[in-house]
Amino acid sequence: MSSITSEAPITKRLEGKVALITGGASGIGACTARLFVHHGAKVLIADIQDDLGHSCRQEFVPQETISYVHCNVTCDSDVQNAVDTAVSKYGKLDIMFNNAGIPGDGKSGILNCDNEDFKRVLEVNVYGGFLGAKHAARVMIPAKKGCILFTSSVASVLYGEVAHAYTASKNAIVGLAKNLSVELGQYGIRVNSISPYAVATPFLTDALNMTKEAAAELGASAATLKGVVLEPEDVSQAALYLAGEESKYVSGVNLVIDGGYNLTNPSFSMALKANFKKFQ
Ligand SMILES: NC(=O)c1ccc[n+]([C@@H]2O[C@H](COP(=O)([O-])OP(=O)(O)OC[C@H]3O[C@@H](n4cnc5c(N)ncnc54)[C@H](O)[C@@H]3O)[C@@H](O)[C@H]2O)c1
Repeated sequence: MSSITSEAPITKRLEGKVALITGGASGIGACTARLFVHHGAKVLIADIQDDLGHSCRQEFVPQETISYVHCNVTCDSDVQNAVDTAVSKYGKLDIMFNNAGIPGDGKSGILNCDNEDFKRVLEVNVYGGFLGAKHAARVMIPAKKGCILFTSSVASVLYGEVAHAYTASKNAIVGLAKNLSVELGQYGIRVNSISPYAVATPFLTDALNMTKEAAAELGASAATLKGVVLEPEDVSQAALYLAGEESKYVSGVNLVIDGGYNLTNPSFSMALKANFKKFQ
């Protein structure tokens, strides 16, 4: 937690705001919950990992600033209940962060794709985000303000490296966010997505079957930007920007946090170096 200190920030950028974060019990979601509370927000964490979700709460004094609700994002009544809980507990919903996601089995090659895995990834990553946006809009439209965020992925701007199900799901999220930003602009609601490169959370370490350190090292070694490592805090800082007043006119953006990774294709120079001594 390098960038989130126990000291109060000079400017509390989310003072008085209420946020609901799906997938908030772990990784990027948990880190964002901490940062949002640090900046004065009241946060409701929604997840299916109940023990982890409850333990996140223990860190906060006073604990009224954060609460947990069990919510499977693929279940309409769970998402409805999570949004209604935020409103009944804290009086309103300003920020809906649709962040829950799964990688799927990661099998590459269309002929290897498992049909059920494809459906499951789309169900959690896309249908889950759709339900979150729909229920958030239900309370944000009458309020004539709000901010809806999605966690997409660098797989929304880069192709051929990640399994079809995941790539399809994260591209769908960006399309949904942009479409929503056009529709909901008339109500003062901004909609954006965040697209990180590899972050060493359980999502990645479980998928790669690696330790956190090994996953972080792998990500750093393949990265374009050197000398820094992408951490959950970096993604949370982007969410803070998009949730706060600093981005009051930013809507329909897919904010890619990849240190320029998607802009290049090193295959040619790697092949040169591997095959011809004079280029090594
Ligand atoms: N870690 C990465 O390398 C990376 C890169 C790009 C994008 N992302 C995206 O970031 C988001 C957060 O992932 P993370 O890296 O923090 O991983 P994580 O595994 O630490 O957190 C994901 C959370 O989502 C929850 N979740 C999964 N299915 C759910 C469901 N049906 N209902 C409610 N909650 C559910 C999990 O319980 C978990 O707490 C995901 O959408 C993921 O696709 C991650």
